[in-house]
Amino acid sequence: MTRTPVNVTVTGAAGQIGYALLFRIASGHLLGPDVPVNLRLLEIPQGLKAAEGTAMELDDCAFPLLRNIEITDDANVGFAGANVALLVGARPRTKGMERGDLLSANGGIFKPQGKAINDNAADDIKVLVVGNPANTNALIAQAAAPDVPAERFTAMTRLDHNRAISQLAARTGAAVSDIKRLTIWGNHSATQYPDIFHAEIAGKNAAEVVNDEAWLADTFIPTVAKRGAAIIEARGASSAASAANAAIDHVHTWVNGTAEGDWTSMGIPSDGSYGVPEGIISSFPVTTKDGKYEIVQGLDINEFSRARIDASVQELSEERDAVRELGLI
Ligand code: NAD
Ligand code: LMR
Repeated sequence: MTRTPVNVTVTGAAGQIGYALLFRIASGHLLGPDVPVNLRLLEIPQGLKAAEGTAMELDDCAFPLLRNIEITDDANVGFAGANVALLVGARPRTKGMERGDLLSANGGIFKPQGKAINDNAADDIKVLVVGNPANTNALIAQAAAPDVPAERFTAMTRLDHNRAISQLAARTGAAVSDIKRLTIWGNHSATQYPDIFHAEIAGKNAAEVVNDEAWLADTFIPTVAKRGAAIIEARGASSAASAANAAIDHVHTWVNGTAEGDWTSMGIPSDGSYGVPEGIISSFPVTTKDGKYEIVQGLDINEFSRARIDASVQELSEERDAVRELGLI
């Protein structure tokens, strides 16, 4: 049976994450080895030429699943009929820029893109925001798309999730594949909280295996939360291949489901669970099935975790208030 191609839109397609992402989408890693894709590359005018170069390379791979590529700087064209949208293009923070300036500059990108998604995307659109500040950019886009169910707008904390698993594996000598049920709570920022109290290592409680709260507080949490900055320091550029890999993981899990007994972390509009104010886009433990996600309920949150979740959620509330004041939501 020939399947209908899925339309995948990538913004910031000519950037470094775009370059690491597009080839994996086209080779079937985003949606599955039997799902054909049409790619829509959305760039600003200055990025169009480089996007054309990337499209030439995509052609040269002769990917059996890649049906066509369209390149545009018009968001209405870029999101026309989109089933999956990866919002990667964003305005990076530059020297001397305050958080308010960054939120305002990105509002100028994510508000019109949200509206273009609202007006042009397919009914089953799923959106992943990667561009920073990812959670609040997702909120801005979602607020500009009142006809799209709010839960279709998500922000990427899967890179943090993967980083935390890797750090935990290194500390305990476990295989990555033995680690389950890790959770990232809150914002994709230095306040995020990687939680191992419900995680399992080969079926045993991870916090009990580690049994070292000082390591948790002073090494594990800051290493995961500040990993983005450490990569920038080491590479001279922010994470790209690992970020693209996490974007692939996020959408693949959303579409194809979490494994039995496991969960993942996604930035999603809060329904008020775990005391996170309704509406803000915060990372939660979620299971996914049939293209839908659900927050894992009933986890016992200890004092150590509560304080850290609250701090990150507080930052998200402040970001929401700031973009509200700027008239972006
Ligand atoms: P980059 O500067 O290499 O590329 C960004 C691209 O976006 C550029 O080609 C630029 O022309 C394009 N762009 C800018 N405004 C646009 C618009 N309005 N429409 C379409 N395209 C636009 O940056 P990068 O390294 O690819 O990173 C992209 C973003 O992802 C940054 O905000 C970065 O901080 C963020 N990031 C997030 C995570 C995460 O875990 N959530 C991880 C890594 C990076
Ligand atoms: C990352 O986590 O690698 C990115 O969000 C880049 C950054 O600024 O931390």
